[in-house]
Amino acid sequence: MSSVHAKISGVGKYLPEYVLTNKELETMVDTNDEWIKSRTGISERRILKGDNLGTSYMAERAANAALEDAGVDADEIDVIIVATVTPDYLFPATACLVQKRIGASNAYAFDLSAACSGFLFALSTGGNFIESGRAKKVLVIGADKMSSIIDYTDRTTCILFGDAGAAVVLEETQEETGIIDYIHHTEGDEDCMLYQPAGGSVRPATKETVEKDLHYIRQDGRAVFRKATEGMSDVSLEIMKKNDLAPQDVAWLVPHQANLRIIDATARRMGIDRNKVMINIDKYGNTTSATIPLCLVDWKDQLNEGDNLVLSAFGGGLTWGSIYLKWAM
Ligand code: ACO
Repeated sequence: MSSVHAKISGVGKYLPEYVLTNKELETMVDTNDEWIKSRTGISERRILKGDNLGTSYMAERAANAALEDAGVDADEIDVIIVATVTPDYLFPATACLVQKRIGASNAYAFDLSAACSGFLFALSTGGNFIESGRAKKVLVIGADKMSSIIDYTDRTTCILFGDAGAAVVLEETQEETGIIDYIHHTEGDEDCMLYQPAGGSVRPATKETVEKDLHYIRQDGRAVFRKATEGMSDVSLEIMKKNDLAPQDVAWLVPHQANLRIIDATARRMGIDRNKVMINIDKYGNTTSATIPLCLVDWKDQLNEGDNLVLSAFGGGLTWGSIYLKWAM
């Protein structure tokens, strides 16, 4: 194992101003506040409005906030990774646009696509750059404009998702802190349980794909729910066992926010009390790559140096994983 670790030295977020409430959704599709809250835990979510504003708009603002929090100048950054499934364009990568706009002139930049596990996979990738000695400072951003791929006439998906961006700065440390371990899994979703049918190279955009609404998210909600509950619980327990962590050793579970029932099932399986679980799904819904760093920003003032955090996520791909990190700020 490397004696160099990657610690989080700054966090930042950007949330669009527009609040889409369950009440407003009641006017758009056949749903109700009670159903949404009891089945998902969501009360409201943010939506990015405005012409020509994409994921990079939120990523850039979250990145600047994280750099300020870390006291790091943009030109000190070696690598920028943006986890997203809603890039501004298929190419160039959203990370490249962010690199230019924040003035990270010494960084190279790329996007990483792992749906709701995107931030976890990006964080461990950034950590590996630092542990290998190839980079000293890495900016890891999770940002998604989910509203750009949601069909607001489909009540089974439009209630779930929101838009946001959040970021962390990773820096090297010689202490036994920061990212200690991770476990990631993939099971290729050939059955298309959760996907966006068109817009890629199999079905490029045509008049027909647009008319058939093939550019929106499609998911088999029940099947994904079962897989997510099992996958997130299993991998969280796996990382605890691998690192000899008893429930009382875990200061916080930082779960991906897809559904409150999935979060509760994961915490129960780990033996963790609700009051040690970061939950903000009620305010933001599922913001895909942004949920976990958003939690870190919202709970920052309650975190103490040396706290053991277990970060866990499940998402499209199918992808899932956990990171064990010791808080070092
Ligand atoms: N309002 C009212 N009724 C609804 C709504 C709604 N918004 N949506 C569905 N219903 C109805 C259904 O039509 C169904 O009616 P029926 O029984 O008459 O057929 C009934 O409610 C129950 O539907 P289910 O799909 O069984 O509801 P469920 O309890 O499974 O909740 C949900 C649906 C919230 C989507 C859940 O399955 C879920 O959270 N799935 C996992 C999502 C997830 O984790 N995705 C992964 C991350 S996303 C990513 O990676 C990009």
